[in-house]
Amino acid sequence: MKTIEISAKIQICSHIELTNEQKSVVEAAKKATSGSYSPYSNYKVGAAVLLDNGVIITGSNQENAAYPSGLCAERTALFYAGANYPDVPVRKLAIISRQGNEFGKEVCSPCGSCRQVICECEARYGSPIEILLCSDTEVYVIQGIEALLPFGFGPKELNK
Ligand code: THU
Repeated sequence: MKTIEISAKIQICSHIELTNEQKSVVEAAKKATSGSYSPYSNYKVGAAVLLDNGVIITGSNQENAAYPSGLCAERTALFYAGANYPDVPVRKLAIISRQGNEFGKEVCSPCGSCRQVICECEARYGSPIEILLCSDTEVYVIQGIEALLPFGFGPKELNK
């Protein structure tokens, strides 16, 4: 028998420690919480994606009375980016939650399905995405989905 150990490197910054480019993506994610349609959870989520051409795309969670038909903020943003800028790689992704007027006290961490979609997005463009998981005070800066989705299922498993 053998054991392997998995580790992940996560840099924890305060908001003021971010670069200007990171700040602009985080700011866009914060604004995007206003577009959240979340009457069932009352948990607003905003996401923003910075593309390689400098464009920032935002998304928010869109819920549905038939719960599984809703979509998370990250996938709303990533699918819009993929559909409208199919040839432009995604460089950064910021996520933040809000309840009422308060941004989350804990960083907003993507669900398993969103991790899988981020994984596909990295594979699609062949480059890691910097992921910025935000709370009201801190940002977890993660260089690529591997840290959040070790052993991810991707195109190589299908010999693609
Ligand atoms: N949600 C997101 O939009 N992104 C996340 O990273 C976590 C969860 C949404 C889905 C649902 O609308 C609400 O938050 C509560 O689960």
